[in-house]
Amino acid sequence: MNEQPADQEALIDRISADSLTTRRDYLRIVATVSGGLAVGSTVVAAGVLPRHGDGSAPPLKVADRLARGQAVAFNYPGEHDRAMAIRLADGTLVGYSTVCTHLACGVLWRKERGEEGELYCPCHEGVFSARTGEVTAGPPPRPLPKVVVVEDGGGAVWAIGTARSGESDERGLCRQLQERDPDFAARAGCAAILRGGAS
Ligand code: FES
Repeated sequence: MNEQPADQEALIDRISADSLTTRRDYLRIVATVSGGLAVGSTVVAAGVLPRHGDGSAPPLKVADRLARGQAVAFNYPGEHDRAMAIRLADGTLVGYSTVCTHLACGVLWRKERGEEGELYCPCHEGVFSARTGEVTAGPPPRPLPKVVVVEDGGGAVWAIGTARSGESDERGLCRQLQERDPDFAARAGCAAILRGGAS
């Protein structure tokens, strides 16, 4: 976060200026990705996150702070969509839907399992990687869908978007932006991300 390449800094400046003039859609900020979450985090830290998105899921503050090894449960993007943000032992922030991809039981955080914990479904012993959401054991057929989470300058954690099961955060954000603001998606470079099939 502290060391941004020059081109990324320029990109962030452009994004910030644009969002300050329009403030219409937070996804226009975070989906301008070449560095994805770093961009999103920086924009949040700069205080340019719009108060409301114009779509289904405005940004949601899920924790004032999240220490390493800690997790917080919340609902996002809808009020009945169970989700969780986790700060891994190395400081990485990750977010997932906690609806199991097998038969929709609630997935739990087991901090003490392995080096960085795991996400566990007690219904049929399904296990997902805490770092990637991939299935590591049991019957779930797909990885956990992601909730894109970023940290602002004050250390608060925000949910700002979603990505489908197996989809990268950048691609998920770009897909949503493409649906909502194709012009900006084009300017943001989403075409290459979407065309490239990055997962
Ligand atoms: S519902 Fe999660 S493993 Fe079956």
